[in-house]
Amino acid sequence: MQKKVIIGCLALAMTMGAASLTMAEEMPGPDADALWNYITKVSPYTKWSYWPDHMGMQDGRAPHGQRHKVFVNQQAMESATPPLKYGAIEVKENYSKAEELKVITVIYKVKGFNPKDGDWYWAKFSPTGKALKVGKPKGCIGCHSTRVANDYVLVHEFK
Ligand code: HEC
Repeated sequence: MQKKVIIGCLALAMTMGAASLTMAEEMPGPDADALWNYITKVSPYTKWSYWPDHMGMQDGRAPHGQRHKVFVNQQAMESATPPLKYGAIEVKENYSKAEELKVITVIYKVKGFNPKDGDWYWAKFSPTGKALKVGKPKGCIGCHSTRVANDYVLVHEFK
């Protein structure tokens, strides 16, 4: 009897271990190619949501495009208060004034990647996915850290 219970627990623990492993594998690591593949193929960002206070095409400020759209994944949407949940991603399409897509900038919350600056992985891509700047660029962090209390997010106000 006792043996059965132990075996049962072991099987359950193994199943749970496998399940959490699968979940972890679904998200990319802090890597430009893996992230681009994720946001374009695994979970295409164009199907994500907008923040309710930042929907669709908006005017932007330098250094980003003059027009932009910011797409937000499920983990970000589920974050009611800062800091955002791990796995949260925001993809910003940067357009010219004439609404030609120029650059794609991304922030991705990765546990342990850069704890002293909010664990965000920063990426700037060409529209075809060429990585132009990735990781912990001082420029990105410097400007966005004006809103540390809002977890470096500038287009959405957490209340
Ligand atoms: C000089 C300031 C500045 C720098 C440098 C900067 N940003 Fe931004 N960023 C902004 C502003 C302002 C916004 C708000 C939207 C807008 O006005 O375009 C923004 C918005 C964003 C957003 C949309 C999500 C949000 O609300 O924050 C992403 C993603 C983003 N930036 C990524 C980056 C990346 C990646 C870099 C570095 C390659 C970078 N930014 C460098 C000022 C900056």
